[in-house]
Amino acid sequence: MNWLNAALLFAIYAGHCELMAWWCNRTHGLTLRHRTTTKIRAVHDLIVLGAAPGLLFGFGLFGYRLMRGGEWAAVPWGWKAYFGLCGVGVVSLLLCIARHLFRPLPAGAKRSSRRIDVTADLGFKPIGAGKRRAQAALPGNAQYTIEAVELELTLPALPPGWDGVTIGHVSDTHFQGEVALPFFERAFEEMAAWNCDLYVFTGDLLDRPRRIDWVEPTFGLLPKTNPEFGCRFILGNHDWHYRVAPLRAAMAAAGWEDLSGRVETLRRGGDSLAIAGDESPWLNGPPDWSAAPPEAFRLLLAHTPDLFRRAKANAVDLMLAGHNHGGQIAFPLIGPIYAPSKHGVRHAGGTYREGSLLMHVSRGLSGKTPVRYGAMPEITRITLRNDSRALEEDG
Ligand SMILES: [Fe+2]
Repeated sequence: MNWLNAALLFAIYAGHCELMAWWCNRTHGLTLRHRTTTKIRAVHDLIVLGAAPGLLFGFGLFGYRLMRGGEWAAVPWGWKAYFGLCGVGVVSLLLCIARHLFRPLPAGAKRSSRRIDVTADLGFKPIGAGKRRAQAALPGNAQYTIEAVELELTLPALPPGWDGVTIGHVSDTHFQGEVALPFFERAFEEMAAWNCDLYVFTGDLLDRPRRIDWVEPTFGLLPKTNPEFGCRFILGNHDWHYRVAPLRAAMAAAGWEDLSGRVETLRRGGDSLAIAGDESPWLNGPPDWSAAPPEAFRLLLAHTPDLFRRAKANAVDLMLAGHNHGGQIAFPLIGPIYAPSKHGVRHAGGTYREGSLLMHVSRGLSGKTPVRYGAMPEITRITLRNDSRALEEDG
């Protein structure tokens, strides 16, 4: 047995899988309908699963017999060229792993969190009806443990009047049925108890239109806490597959203000904060920032973090997004592999600095596929801090 060639074939397979994941992630970041992305995933699965026996039997044990004394010279140049490309895939995979393992929290961000075991709190696992019920019931599915994240963000551009303001951020509820209503009620009760000054939702409300009646018992809880700056929402790419007017109407009836494609200026102690919503590339956006006072702090709600470059170009100070669900499955050491983004898993979930822009990407509460491992659902409480306060505390 030639173990070196066995290791090389394994590395080629790993690189091949990374290239396929690269292609799958980028196409899922585009404005494609579900039937198209379903076909792409089927082709991806076939190529990934088929390559393992192809390499093992066609190149390793039989065919070119590379694991049993065969020579690479016998392998056609076309295959060698593709295997070389797989080498690029291996480098990309190693960089992703390094970023996952060693990415520090950005300067100016402090983070703490606690876990809410919804199953223990309720006394039962909140699994409802639907064709994905078996997925929702998978052993060890992290779907039913919420991470309540507390973030303190020190932002140089934040006016003093906004120091200490709290934002409750929730994303990607994907109301569908398999993850039952009590799970979401528990999450929103927790958020209501935070008594934030502003609540925001960054899209993907539902995956089954009849679940629109879940909006009032969940989202409806937060306006009742009388937040000083209200509750604002945008919609996401899953909402784009349905008639959005009833979704917007349901959110409005629950006390939430539609921020899609527009800018609003909020004032506190004489200081301004401009908040905008961008549902690009699926629904309303981009917002016209010229409507904001030039001195205002800029806060953007976007569904996809892929809009970070546009946010930077518009001098946005803080961007809140969702969409990538933390990859939904994050492997130990390796981290997540799949995220529907033009940037792959770069912004799968967490807090990032991109130049002057600080961005938090929530893993959201659920997904069309109700399966999570290593990527718990998330609700986030963000406290804004200005520089002077941070300097005082440091001093
Ligand atoms: Fe989503």
